[in-house]
Amino acid sequence: MSANEIIQTKLLNCTLDEIGQYQERVTRIHHDLPQQDFTGWLDLPLREQDELVTSLENIAQEVKACADVLVVIGIGGSFLGAHAVQEALTPYFGKAANGIEVIYAGQHMSGAYVKQLLAYLDSKQVYVNVISKSGGTMEPALAFRTLRLYMEERYGNKATERIIVTTDGEKGILKGLADQAGYRQFVIPDDVGGRFSVLTPVGLLPIAVAGVDIRTLLAGAKDAAIAFSEADLASNVAYRYAVLRHMLYEKGYTMEILASFEPSLSKLGAWWQQLFGESEGKDHKGLYPATVNFSTDLHSIGQFIQEGSRVMFETVVHFNELTDDLAVPFDARDEDGLNYVSNRTFNEVNAICEEGTILAHAEGEVPVIQLALPTLDTYHLGYLLYFFMKACGMSASLLEVNPFNQPGVEAYKKKMQALLKEDK
Ligand code: PA5
Repeated sequence: MSANEIIQTKLLNCTLDEIGQYQERVTRIHHDLPQQDFTGWLDLPLREQDELVTSLENIAQEVKACADVLVVIGIGGSFLGAHAVQEALTPYFGKAANGIEVIYAGQHMSGAYVKQLLAYLDSKQVYVNVISKSGGTMEPALAFRTLRLYMEERYGNKATERIIVTTDGEKGILKGLADQAGYRQFVIPDDVGGRFSVLTPVGLLPIAVAGVDIRTLLAGAKDAAIAFSEADLASNVAYRYAVLRHMLYEKGYTMEILASFEPSLSKLGAWWQQLFGESEGKDHKGLYPATVNFSTDLHSIGQFIQEGSRVMFETVVHFNELTDDLAVPFDARDEDGLNYVSNRTFNEVNAICEEGTILAHAEGEVPVIQLALPTLDTYHLGYLLYFFMKACGMSASLLEVNPFNQPGVEAYKKKMQALLKEDK
Protein backbone atom coordinates (compact mmCIF):
# COMPACT_ATOMS: atom_id res chain seq x y z
CA MET A 1 0.00 0.00 0.00
CA SER A 2 1.46 3.39 -0.93
CA ALA A 3 1.39 6.20 1.62
CA ASN A 4 -1.20 7.94 -0.54
CA GLU A 5 -3.64 5.09 -0.11
CA ILE A 6 -3.34 4.75 3.64
CA ILE A 7 -6.50 6.73 4.32
CA GLN A 8 -9.49 5.68 2.26
CA THR A 9 -12.41 8.10 2.05
CA LYS A 10 -15.99 7.36 1.17
CA LEU A 11 -18.98 9.69 1.11
CA LEU A 12 -22.49 8.42 1.72
CA ASN A 13 -25.86 10.00 1.08
CA CYS A 14 -24.53 12.91 -0.87
CA THR A 15 -22.75 13.38 -4.16
CA LEU A 16 -20.39 16.23 -4.37
CA ASP A 17 -19.42 16.00 -8.00
CA GLU A 18 -18.37 19.63 -7.90
CA ILE A 19 -15.22 18.78 -5.96
CA GLY A 20 -13.04 19.40 -9.02
CA GLN A 21 -14.24 22.99 -9.16
CA TYR A 22 -12.17 23.66 -6.05
CA GLN A 23 -8.89 22.52 -7.56
CA GLU A 24 -7.77 26.00 -8.56
CA ARG A 25 -8.43 27.49 -5.12
CA VAL A 26 -6.84 24.49 -3.42
CA THR A 27 -3.73 24.82 -5.55
CA ARG A 28 -3.46 28.51 -4.75
CA ILE A 29 -3.89 27.96 -1.00
CA HIS A 30 -1.45 25.04 -1.12
CA HIS A 31 1.24 27.34 -2.47
CA ASP A 32 0.38 30.31 -0.23
CA LEU A 33 -0.02 28.42 3.06
CA PRO A 34 3.72 27.85 3.78
CA GLN A 35 4.31 31.62 3.48
CA GLN A 36 1.99 32.28 6.44
CA ASP A 37 3.17 32.64 10.04
CA PHE A 38 2.92 29.55 12.25
CA THR A 39 3.23 26.99 9.47
CA GLY A 40 6.43 25.36 10.72
CA TRP A 41 4.41 22.21 11.50
CA LEU A 42 3.95 21.64 7.75
CA ASP A 43 7.43 20.26 7.16
CA LEU A 44 8.35 19.46 10.76
CA PRO A 45 8.12 15.66 10.30
CA LEU A 46 10.44 15.96 7.28
CA ARG A 47 13.16 17.73 9.26
CA GLU A 48 16.15 15.92 10.73
CA GLN A 49 15.26 15.66 14.41
CA ASP A 50 17.39 12.79 15.62
CA GLU A 51 19.20 14.77 18.29
CA LEU A 52 15.97 16.14 19.72
CA VAL A 53 14.24 12.75 19.65
CA THR A 54 17.20 11.10 21.39
CA SER A 55 17.19 13.70 24.14
CA LEU A 56 13.42 13.29 24.59
CA GLU A 57 13.86 9.53 24.80
CA ASN A 58 16.66 9.91 27.35
CA ILE A 59 14.56 12.14 29.58
CA ALA A 60 11.61 9.78 29.18
CA GLN A 61 13.84 6.89 30.34
CA GLU A 62 15.00 8.91 33.31
CA VAL A 63 11.44 9.87 34.27
CA LYS A 64 10.32 6.25 33.98
CA ALA A 65 13.22 5.11 36.13
CA CYS A 66 12.80 7.74 38.85
CA ALA A 67 9.05 8.33 39.06
CA ASP A 68 5.70 6.59 39.31
CA VAL A 69 3.82 9.56 37.91
CA LEU A 70 4.48 12.32 35.41
CA VAL A 71 2.18 15.29 35.92
CA VAL A 72 1.77 17.13 32.62
CA ILE A 73 0.62 20.71 33.15
CA GLY A 74 -0.90 22.41 30.12
CA ILE A 75 -4.14 23.45 28.45
CA GLY A 76 -5.55 23.41 24.90
CA GLY A 77 -2.86 22.60 22.36
CA SER A 78 -0.39 22.17 25.19
CA PHE A 79 -1.97 18.93 26.38
CA LEU A 80 -4.72 17.61 24.08
CA GLY A 81 -2.39 15.96 21.54
CA ALA A 82 -0.43 14.02 24.15
CA HIS A 83 -3.63 13.00 25.88
CA ALA A 84 -5.13 11.81 22.58
CA VAL A 85 -2.13 9.64 21.68
CA GLN A 86 -1.75 8.28 25.18
CA GLU A 87 -5.41 7.29 25.37
CA ALA A 88 -5.42 5.74 21.91
CA LEU A 89 -2.28 3.63 22.30
CA THR A 90 -1.95 2.61 25.92
CA PRO A 91 -4.05 -0.03 27.69
CA TYR A 92 -7.50 0.82 29.01
CA PHE A 93 -6.54 -0.39 32.48
CA GLY A 94 -3.15 -0.15 34.15
CA LYS A 95 -2.00 2.62 31.83
CA ALA A 96 1.56 2.37 33.09
CA ALA A 97 2.16 -1.05 31.49
CA ASN A 98 4.91 0.25 29.15
CA GLY A 99 5.61 3.61 30.68
CA ILE A 100 4.53 5.26 33.88
CA GLU A 101 1.30 6.94 34.82
CA VAL A 102 0.88 10.24 32.98
CA ILE A 103 -1.75 12.52 34.45
CA TYR A 104 -2.83 16.01 33.51
CA ALA A 105 -3.24 19.24 35.43
CA GLY A 106 -3.68 22.89 34.53
CA GLN A 107 -6.33 22.04 31.94
CA HIS A 108 -8.96 23.69 34.18
CA MET A 109 -9.13 25.38 37.58
CA SER A 110 -11.05 22.91 39.72
CA GLY A 111 -9.85 23.26 43.30
CA ALA A 112 -11.11 19.78 44.12
CA TYR A 113 -9.04 18.29 41.29
CA VAL A 114 -5.80 19.99 42.36
CA LYS A 115 -6.34 19.19 46.03
CA GLN A 116 -7.05 15.53 45.29
CA LEU A 117 -4.13 15.38 42.88
CA LEU A 118 -1.71 16.54 45.59
CA ALA A 119 -3.09 13.94 47.98
CA TYR A 120 -2.78 11.27 45.30
CA LEU A 121 0.84 12.20 44.59
CA ASP A 122 1.90 11.88 48.22
CA SER A 123 2.48 8.15 47.99
CA LYS A 124 4.18 8.34 44.56
CA GLN A 125 7.49 9.49 43.12
CA VAL A 126 6.76 12.46 40.89
CA TYR A 127 8.12 14.36 37.88
CA VAL A 128 6.43 17.44 36.44
CA ASN A 129 6.39 18.62 32.84
CA VAL A 130 4.89 22.09 32.53
CA ILE A 131 4.00 23.11 28.98
CA SER A 132 3.01 26.58 27.88
CA LYS A 133 4.04 28.35 24.71
CA SER A 134 3.08 31.81 25.94
CA GLY A 135 4.22 30.94 29.43
CA GLY A 136 1.47 33.00 31.01
CA THR A 137 -1.82 31.12 30.62
CA MET A 138 -3.74 31.25 33.90
CA GLU A 139 -4.84 27.61 34.19
CA PRO A 140 -1.41 25.98 33.81
CA ALA A 141 0.32 28.86 35.61
CA LEU A 142 -1.83 28.34 38.72
CA ALA A 143 -1.33 24.58 38.62
CA PHE A 144 2.43 25.00 38.18
CA ARG A 145 2.72 27.46 41.04
CA THR A 146 1.03 24.88 43.27
CA LEU A 147 2.95 21.85 41.97
CA ARG A 148 6.27 23.68 42.05
CA LEU A 149 5.88 24.55 45.72
CA TYR A 150 4.74 20.99 46.39
CA MET A 151 7.81 19.57 44.63
CA GLU A 152 10.15 21.92 46.49
CA GLU A 153 8.63 20.95 49.80
CA ARG A 154 8.95 17.26 49.00
CA TYR A 155 12.25 17.10 47.19
CA GLY A 156 14.11 20.24 48.36
CA ASN A 157 16.95 21.15 45.96
CA LYS A 158 16.35 17.95 44.02
CA ALA A 159 13.01 19.35 42.81
CA THR A 160 14.95 21.20 40.10
CA GLU A 161 15.86 17.87 38.47
CA ARG A 162 12.25 16.70 38.55
CA ILE A 163 10.69 19.66 36.79
CA ILE A 164 10.91 19.90 33.00
CA VAL A 165 9.71 22.97 31.18
CA THR A 166 8.44 23.04 27.60
CA THR A 167 8.03 26.60 26.41
CA ASP A 168 9.20 29.30 24.01
CA GLY A 169 12.94 29.42 23.35
CA GLU A 170 13.32 33.07 24.22
CA LYS A 171 10.39 34.82 25.82
CA GLY A 172 7.63 34.51 28.40
CA ILE A 173 7.31 34.34 32.18
CA LEU A 174 7.78 30.57 32.23
CA LYS A 175 10.98 30.83 30.19
CA GLY A 176 12.40 33.42 32.63
CA LEU A 177 11.38 31.35 35.62
CA ALA A 178 12.90 28.17 34.14
CA ASP A 179 16.20 29.93 33.39
CA GLN A 180 16.29 31.35 36.89
CA ALA A 181 15.59 28.00 38.57
CA GLY A 182 17.79 25.96 36.23
CA TYR A 183 15.03 23.62 35.05
CA ARG A 184 15.70 21.51 32.00
CA GLN A 185 13.87 22.91 29.00
CA PHE A 186 12.46 21.90 25.65
CA VAL A 187 11.65 24.53 23.08
CA ILE A 188 8.33 24.90 21.28
CA PRO A 189 9.34 26.06 17.80
CA ASP A 190 8.48 29.69 17.16
CA ASP A 191 6.63 28.86 13.98
CA VAL A 192 4.34 26.17 15.46
CA GLY A 193 1.16 27.15 17.30
CA GLY A 194 -0.36 25.22 20.21
CA ARG A 195 -2.93 23.06 18.41
CA PHE A 196 -0.40 22.13 15.71
CA SER A 197 2.30 21.19 18.23
CA VAL A 198 1.61 17.54 19.04
CA LEU A 199 4.67 16.44 17.05
CA THR A 200 7.00 18.84 18.92
CA PRO A 201 8.28 18.26 22.49
CA VAL A 202 4.86 19.49 23.65
CA GLY A 203 3.35 16.15 22.70
CA LEU A 204 6.42 13.98 22.26
CA LEU A 205 7.78 14.04 25.82
CA PRO A 206 4.57 12.97 27.61
CA ILE A 207 3.87 10.48 24.81
CA ALA A 208 7.33 8.92 25.20
CA VAL A 209 6.91 8.74 28.98
CA ALA A 210 3.56 7.00 28.48
CA GLY A 211 5.46 4.24 26.66
CA VAL A 212 4.66 5.10 23.03
CA ASP A 213 7.48 4.91 20.47
CA ILE A 214 7.80 8.50 19.27
CA ARG A 215 10.05 7.54 16.34
CA THR A 216 7.27 5.42 14.89
CA LEU A 217 4.73 8.18 15.52
CA LEU A 218 6.98 10.63 13.65
CA ALA A 219 7.55 8.09 10.85
CA GLY A 220 3.78 7.94 10.29
CA ALA A 221 3.57 11.74 10.26
CA LYS A 222 6.51 11.94 7.86
CA ASP A 223 4.87 9.59 5.38
CA ALA A 224 1.69 11.65 5.64
CA ALA A 225 3.66 14.86 5.02
CA ILE A 226 5.06 13.26 1.87
CA ALA A 227 1.70 11.83 0.77
CA PHE A 228 -0.05 15.19 1.16
CA SER A 229 2.65 17.35 -0.35
CA GLU A 230 0.90 17.89 -3.68
CA ALA A 231 -2.14 20.05 -4.37
CA ASP A 232 -3.89 17.51 -6.60
CA LEU A 233 -7.31 16.64 -5.13
CA ALA A 234 -7.23 13.30 -6.90
CA SER A 235 -4.30 12.11 -4.80
CA ASN A 236 -4.32 14.34 -1.71
CA VAL A 237 -6.88 12.79 0.65
CA ALA A 238 -6.34 15.46 3.31
CA TYR A 239 -7.34 18.17 0.86
CA ARG A 240 -10.23 16.08 -0.40
CA TYR A 241 -11.56 15.80 3.16
CA ALA A 242 -11.08 19.56 3.61
CA VAL A 243 -13.01 20.29 0.42
CA LEU A 244 -15.80 17.83 1.24
CA ARG A 245 -16.44 19.39 4.64
CA HIS A 246 -16.24 22.88 3.15
CA MET A 247 -18.73 21.99 0.42
CA LEU A 248 -21.12 20.52 2.96
CA TYR A 249 -20.77 23.74 4.97
CA GLU A 250 -21.63 25.75 1.89
CA LYS A 251 -24.69 23.55 1.37
CA GLY A 252 -25.99 24.65 4.77
CA TYR A 253 -24.64 22.03 7.16
CA THR A 254 -23.37 23.84 10.22
CA MET A 255 -22.03 21.00 12.33
CA GLU A 256 -19.57 18.18 11.78
CA ILE A 257 -19.63 15.25 14.14
CA LEU A 258 -16.47 13.18 14.40
CA ALA A 259 -17.47 9.65 15.33
CA SER A 260 -15.49 6.57 16.26
CA PHE A 261 -16.46 3.18 17.58
CA GLU A 262 -13.37 2.66 19.75
CA PRO A 263 -13.52 4.38 23.15
CA SER A 264 -9.75 4.86 23.19
CA LEU A 265 -10.25 7.41 20.40
CA SER A 266 -12.46 9.76 22.40
CA LYS A 267 -9.51 12.00 23.34
CA LEU A 268 -8.46 12.05 19.69
CA GLY A 269 -11.91 13.53 19.15
CA ALA A 270 -11.16 16.20 21.76
CA TRP A 271 -7.87 17.05 20.02
CA TRP A 272 -9.62 17.19 16.61
CA GLN A 273 -12.37 19.38 18.07
CA GLN A 274 -9.84 21.91 19.34
CA LEU A 275 -7.85 21.79 16.11
CA PHE A 276 -10.82 22.59 13.90
CA GLY A 277 -12.85 24.66 16.37
CA GLU A 278 -10.07 27.05 17.29
CA SER A 279 -8.76 27.25 13.73
CA GLU A 280 -12.06 27.84 11.95
CA GLY A 281 -14.54 29.43 14.32
CA LYS A 282 -13.95 33.06 13.35
CA ASP A 283 -15.76 35.98 11.75
CA HIS A 284 -19.08 34.26 12.54
CA LYS A 285 -18.10 31.40 10.23
CA GLY A 286 -17.17 27.75 10.57
CA LEU A 287 -18.55 24.30 11.17
CA TYR A 288 -19.22 23.49 14.82
CA PRO A 289 -17.01 20.45 15.53
CA ALA A 290 -18.69 17.93 17.82
CA THR A 291 -17.44 14.48 18.77
CA VAL A 292 -19.16 11.26 19.71
CA ASN A 293 -18.04 7.84 20.72
CA PHE A 294 -20.23 4.99 19.57
CA SER A 295 -21.92 2.82 20.48
CA THR A 296 -22.04 4.59 23.87
CA ASP A 297 -23.42 7.81 22.39
CA LEU A 298 -25.94 6.02 20.19
CA HIS A 299 -27.88 5.77 23.43
CA SER A 300 -27.80 9.51 23.98
CA ILE A 301 -27.04 11.90 21.14
CA GLY A 302 -27.68 9.12 18.58
CA GLN A 303 -31.39 9.95 18.73
CA PHE A 304 -30.68 13.54 17.72
CA ILE A 305 -28.36 12.50 14.91
CA GLN A 306 -31.00 10.15 13.51
CA GLU A 307 -34.07 12.37 13.80
CA GLY A 308 -33.22 15.85 15.14
CA SER A 309 -32.59 19.09 13.20
CA ARG A 310 -30.86 18.26 9.90
CA VAL A 311 -27.82 20.46 10.47
CA MET A 312 -25.01 17.99 10.77
CA PHE A 313 -22.87 15.64 8.79
CA GLU A 314 -20.79 12.89 10.28
CA THR A 315 -17.15 11.90 9.79
CA VAL A 316 -16.45 8.37 10.94
CA VAL A 317 -12.87 7.38 11.76
CA HIS A 318 -12.44 3.67 11.26
CA PHE A 319 -9.44 1.38 11.77
CA ASN A 320 -9.69 -1.90 9.88
CA GLU A 321 -7.63 -3.71 12.48
CA LEU A 322 -7.56 -3.30 16.21
CA THR A 323 -4.78 -4.95 18.14
CA ASP A 324 -6.90 -6.52 20.86
CA ASP A 325 -10.15 -8.44 20.79
CA LEU A 326 -12.22 -11.02 22.65
CA ALA A 327 -14.53 -13.76 21.40
CA VAL A 328 -18.15 -13.50 22.55
CA PRO A 329 -18.39 -16.53 24.86
CA PHE A 330 -20.71 -19.45 24.11
CA ASP A 331 -23.01 -20.28 27.02
CA ALA A 332 -24.86 -23.61 26.79
CA ARG A 333 -27.74 -22.19 28.87
CA ASP A 334 -28.35 -19.37 26.38
CA GLU A 335 -30.74 -17.78 28.87
CA ASP A 336 -29.97 -14.36 27.40
CA GLY A 337 -30.55 -15.62 23.84
CA LEU A 338 -27.16 -14.37 22.67
CA ASN A 339 -25.63 -17.58 21.37
CA TYR A 340 -26.36 -16.41 17.84
CA VAL A 341 -23.46 -13.94 18.19
CA SER A 342 -21.11 -16.35 19.93
CA ASN A 343 -19.39 -17.18 16.64
CA ARG A 344 -18.14 -13.58 16.53
CA THR A 345 -15.73 -11.42 18.49
CA PHE A 346 -16.66 -8.20 20.28
CA ASN A 347 -14.86 -6.18 17.59
CA GLU A 348 -16.79 -7.98 14.86
CA VAL A 349 -20.08 -7.12 16.54
CA ASN A 350 -18.85 -3.54 16.97
CA ALA A 351 -17.92 -3.35 13.26
CA ILE A 352 -21.39 -4.57 12.26
CA CYS A 353 -22.88 -1.98 14.61
CA GLU A 354 -20.77 0.64 12.80
CA GLU A 355 -21.98 -0.51 9.40
CA GLY A 356 -25.61 -0.44 10.55
CA THR A 357 -25.22 2.96 12.19
CA ILE A 358 -23.73 4.51 9.07
CA LEU A 359 -26.54 3.12 6.94
CA ALA A 360 -29.17 4.35 9.40
CA HIS A 361 -27.65 7.83 9.66
CA ALA A 362 -27.30 8.11 5.89
CA GLU A 363 -30.97 7.10 5.54
CA GLY A 364 -31.80 9.74 8.12
CA GLU A 365 -30.35 12.34 5.72
CA VAL A 366 -27.02 12.74 7.44
CA PRO A 367 -24.14 12.84 4.95
CA VAL A 368 -21.41 10.52 6.18
CA ILE A 369 -17.72 10.81 5.36
CA GLN A 370 -15.84 7.62 6.16
CA LEU A 371 -12.12 7.76 6.87
CA ALA A 372 -10.66 4.26 6.98
CA LEU A 373 -7.11 3.39 8.07
CA PRO A 374 -5.44 -0.02 8.27
CA THR A 375 -4.44 -0.52 11.93
CA LEU A 376 -4.89 1.39 15.15
CA ASP A 377 -1.19 1.62 15.97
CA THR A 378 1.49 4.23 16.56
CA TYR A 379 2.46 4.65 12.90
CA HIS A 380 -1.08 5.16 11.63
CA LEU A 381 -1.97 7.48 14.48
CA GLY A 382 1.02 9.69 13.56
CA TYR A 383 -0.24 9.59 9.98
CA LEU A 384 -3.76 10.54 11.03
CA LEU A 385 -2.62 13.45 13.24
CA TYR A 386 -0.78 14.98 10.31
CA PHE A 387 -3.71 14.26 7.98
CA PHE A 388 -6.07 16.26 10.19
CA MET A 389 -3.63 19.16 10.62
CA LYS A 390 -3.06 19.40 6.88
CA ALA A 391 -6.80 19.20 6.20
CA CYS A 392 -7.43 21.86 8.81
CA GLY A 393 -4.97 24.33 7.26
CA MET A 394 -6.69 23.89 3.91
CA SER A 395 -10.24 23.88 5.25
CA ALA A 396 -9.83 27.08 7.30
CA SER A 397 -8.18 28.77 4.33
CA LEU A 398 -11.12 27.81 2.08
CA LEU A 399 -13.29 29.52 4.66
CA GLU A 400 -11.06 32.58 4.35
CA VAL A 401 -10.16 32.76 8.02
CA ASN A 402 -6.67 32.67 9.53
CA PRO A 403 -6.23 29.09 10.79
CA PHE A 404 -3.39 30.00 13.11
CA ASN A 405 -4.70 32.68 15.45
CA GLN A 406 -7.33 32.53 18.19
CA PRO A 407 -8.39 36.09 18.95
CA GLY A 408 -11.65 34.90 20.52
CA VAL A 409 -9.84 33.02 23.27
CA GLU A 410 -8.59 36.32 24.63
CA ALA A 411 -12.11 37.58 25.39
CA TYR A 412 -12.75 35.44 28.46
CA LYS A 413 -9.20 35.97 29.70
CA LYS A 414 -9.65 39.76 29.69
CA LYS A 415 -12.98 39.56 31.51
CA MET A 416 -11.57 37.12 34.06
CA GLN A 417 -8.49 39.30 34.68
CA ALA A 418 -10.63 42.39 35.12
CA LEU A 419 -12.91 40.61 37.58
CA LEU A 420 -9.98 39.14 39.52
CA LYS A 421 -8.38 42.58 39.85
CA GLU A 422 -11.68 44.26 40.72
CA ASP A 423 -12.19 41.94 43.68
CA LYS A 424 -8.84 42.82 45.23
O1 PA5 B 1 -3.94 26.18 20.04
C1 PA5 B 1 -3.60 27.08 20.77
O2 PA5 B 1 -2.76 27.93 20.45
C2 PA5 B 1 -4.16 27.21 22.18
O3 PA5 B 1 -5.14 26.25 22.42
C3 PA5 B 1 -3.06 27.05 23.22
O4 PA5 B 1 -2.43 25.82 23.06
C4 PA5 B 1 -3.62 27.19 24.64
O5 PA5 B 1 -4.34 28.38 24.77
C5 PA5 B 1 -2.49 27.15 25.65
O6 PA5 B 1 -1.60 28.18 25.40
P1 PA5 B 1 -0.16 28.19 26.05
O7 PA5 B 1 0.58 27.01 25.56
O8 PA5 B 1 0.44 29.46 25.58
O9 PA5 B 1 -0.34 28.15 27.54
